[in-house]
Amino acid sequence: MPVLTSVLDTQGEAYRANRAAQLRLLDRLAEQLELAAAGGGERYAARHRDRGRLLVRERIELLVDPDSPFLELSSLAAWGTEFTVGASVVTGIGVVSGVECVIIGHDPTVRGGAMNPYSLRKTLRALEIARLNRLPVVNLVESGGADLPTQADLFVPAGRIFHELTALSAAAVPTVALVFGNSTAGGAYVPGMCDYAVLVDLQAKVFLGGPPLVKMATGEVADDEELGGAEMHSRVSGLADHFAADEYDAIRIGRMIMSQLNWRKLGPAPDLHPAPPRYDPEEILGLVPPDAKVPFDPREILARTVDGSEFGEYKPRYGTALVCGWARIHGYPVGVLANHRGVLFSEESKKASEFILLANQTDTPLVFLQNTTGYMVGTSYEQGGIVKDGAKMINAVANSTVPHLTINMASSYGAGNYGMSGRSYDPRLMFAWPGAKLAVMGAAQLAGVMSIVGRASAASSGREFDEAADAKRTAAIEAQIESESDSFYVTARLYDDGIIDPRDTRTVLGMGLSAVHSTTVAGRRGFGVFRM
Ligand code: COA
Repeated sequence: MPVLTSVLDTQGEAYRANRAAQLRLLDRLAEQLELAAAGGGERYAARHRDRGRLLVRERIELLVDPDSPFLELSSLAAWGTEFTVGASVVTGIGVVSGVECVIIGHDPTVRGGAMNPYSLRKTLRALEIARLNRLPVVNLVESGGADLPTQADLFVPAGRIFHELTALSAAAVPTVALVFGNSTAGGAYVPGMCDYAVLVDLQAKVFLGGPPLVKMATGEVADDEELGGAEMHSRVSGLADHFAADEYDAIRIGRMIMSQLNWRKLGPAPDLHPAPPRYDPEEILGLVPPDAKVPFDPREILARTVDGSEFGEYKPRYGTALVCGWARIHGYPVGVLANHRGVLFSEESKKASEFILLANQTDTPLVFLQNTTGYMVGTSYEQGGIVKDGAKMINAVANSTVPHLTINMASSYGAGNYGMSGRSYDPRLMFAWPGAKLAVMGAAQLAGVMSIVGRASAASSGREFDEAADAKRTAAIEAQIESESDSFYVTARLYDDGIIDPRDTRTVLGMGLSAVHSTTVAGRRGFGVFRM
């Protein structure tokens, strides 16, 4: 396989400036990740500990195999909203007793672990990742159920959690509930729907209605333990498969359950001794300009990402604004599509379509590295059939059945987001770098379009056009779109699975590839490869 060579000048001014800007973005990220990790903050964490309980991240750390990595997902869910950043739940992919699985842990220090509309989306996305990739699920349960003031936005869609859990079970994907605390009302269906339920003595409360509700409904006087304690559910109702003496015991039992699953991944195994890249991933920070409009060569990123920096480029002289080619990442074969100079023309669209079909023929997962301003506009391009060519690419992406992993490196605008396997095209995992932008178009362009439309509307109805008001409106729209294009705004709304440090790209892709190989890796069959 040919080896990529780098022309990066690590001593140059551009390198230093890029690196400084990226480090500033990473500081901003670290600050928010710290807030997310702090959950409900010092006071609620102390109260939780005083009750003799472990924090959610401690539970996860004890659950996963010693020294194994945990790929946290949607860490900044709910950022910038009225809710606590992280959305009162921690989700991610980890390894428990050698089994790669999705872990969903409530954070009881944030409003009692109650689920708001962002926690719901985050939980559903974690369950979707489990379903698409055939990953077992371990729930660490301690939640006040629905966030009551926002129940109208979540009560109906929250039913989907139980639907997803049982669909996993129907697909023979094991589900486990370790119940550390409150799991009442609808929450009772988490252990109810899981294949395995473990309840912690004197902490777990699993009932449809607590003592006050029962009193109101039937007049019966009953206490928590009789209604839903671990002892009762282990001896009487049979809901608990395992009685845990304490939290550590529950985690031990959870690890034991996973070790007894006889779990086998269905995808092919990777090379066991992949060569690291020949260039230092640290240098990625000096490669990426803070201004998304300044292009950079994705081969420089690949030289710092793929095994041995080896890359077999596909059609290198055709459709050169999109780099396509074959490589391996942590021993897994991949096809890569990476934008180079932003715009997608007809040639790039056709090249991408053929490449995606080829990857499907060989059951090869695809990695999309986005840095696109979308498909080319203009008379000659429209007359040349850019709509049809873009549609070919979007069609190929939508109907491709090999796993897709997508990273927004710098920009993801317009239908380029769709063609490059954005969120609505079901990438198995999708991440963004901290400086990445995502929107229907650039803020200045969008504001300019609105201004032109306003001017034309005034002219057609014979109104005088107020230039001063237009300038004010244009500036306001531009500022609004700029803030909505920000990677934090995008990740807060679960339009990706998290923001990553660009230096971790190889590691994150490696963990993602490992996760997607839990299920079979099979391309679409039925047509041959259309030459376009
Ligand atoms: N929705 C919104 N806020 C909630 C909440 C919920 N379901 N449950 C708890 N909170 C809030 C509390 O108002 C409190 O806020 P504050 O600190 O600003 O006053 C904070 O979360 C912590 O709650 P607190 O009751 O002090 O914590 P706890 O650890 O002692 O008890 C629960 C936790 C979950 C057992 C208890 O809060 C509770 O029973 N909540 C209601 C559960 C419920 O009926 N849910 C609906 C089921 S669908």
